[in-house]
Amino acid sequence: MTDIRAAITGVGGYVPDYILTNKELETMVETTDEWITSRTGIKERRILKGENKGVSVMGIEAVKDMLAKTHVDPKEIDLLIFATVTADMTFPATANIVASSIGAVNAFSYDISAACSGFLFALTTGASFIESGMYKKIVIVGGDKMSAIMDYTDRTTCIIFGDGAGCVLLEPTTEDVGVMDSILKSDGSGESYLHMKAGGSRIPASHQTVESRQHYVYQEGSAVFKFAVTNMAEVSAQLAERNNLKPDDIAWLVPHQANKRIIDAAASRVGITEDKVMMNIERYGNTTAGTIPLLLWDYEKQLKKGDNLILAAFGGGFTWGAVYVKWAYNG
Ligand code: UT7
Repeated sequence: MTDIRAAITGVGGYVPDYILTNKELETMVETTDEWITSRTGIKERRILKGENKGVSVMGIEAVKDMLAKTHVDPKEIDLLIFATVTADMTFPATANIVASSIGAVNAFSYDISAACSGFLFALTTGASFIESGMYKKIVIVGGDKMSAIMDYTDRTTCIIFGDGAGCVLLEPTTEDVGVMDSILKSDGSGESYLHMKAGGSRIPASHQTVESRQHYVYQEGSAVFKFAVTNMAEVSAQLAERNNLKPDDIAWLVPHQANKRIIDAAASRVGITEDKVMMNIERYGNTTAGTIPLLLWDYEKQLKKGDNLILAAFGGGFTWGAVYVKWAYNG
């Protein structure tokens, strides 16, 4: 165990103004507010409207929000990592666009692609750089513009996803707070259940790929659901056990917001009650890499120094994991 830990010292977030309600979805696909609410817990999601607006727009706003609250000079930022599967372009990295735009002129920056687990993978990567002593200020952004890759004729998928981005600032501390432990996993055999077929180097974009709707998310929902329920719950419980965290020791479970039934299963496996589970799925839906930092953003005021948080996610890849964070400041 190193003497230096990576503390989360600030949080920022951004969701677009446009609200896509279940009622509006009822006019787009054959569905009902009752079905969506009872099967997923989602009532509405945010959509980034307008021409030529990529996920960077939301990432920039989220980082600006964090910088305004923490009074950090962007020139002091050493590294910015952006977790996303809806990058502005295949290259360059969206992290580069965000870093330049916010004036992080001394930072290097890159993207991480791990779907719904992207924020946890990026957070752990950033924490390791801090713990090694290499860098002092690292921004971790998680966000996705899922509406850009959503087939709004596919009722099994379009009802879940939304747009949004959040971020945290990591700084070194010698106190007993920060990123304490993590378990991260991936399994490439999950590819067949959740992916976007075309637009990469295997199947580049063509008239044919557009006509056959291959630039949208393909998801076999019920298969993904089964993997998600088991793995997100299991990894959260393992992490709690190996850190000797009993249910009473855990202040908050911070679960990826894909489906309320998956969240409930994880909470029950860890043994904690609903009042200690962060939740905003009803307002934002599934923003992929955005869900966990957006939860921290929404709940920041309720957090107290020393609170034990278990962050947990499951998503495309498959990728999944849990991170144990001891909160570093009073919200
Ligand atoms: O975050 C990344 C990882 N993704 C996830 O974790 C998502 C995991 N999966 C899910 O959350 C759920 O599987 C869904 C919400 C996507 C779907 O819920 P489900 O309970 O698994 O439904 P299903 O796909 O098994 O479909 C059950 C029925 C089907 O009808 P039949 O064949 O029984 O007649 C569907 O056609 O529900 C129907 N259905 C709908 N009905 C009304 C599917 N989508 C809808 C809809 N409205 N939007």
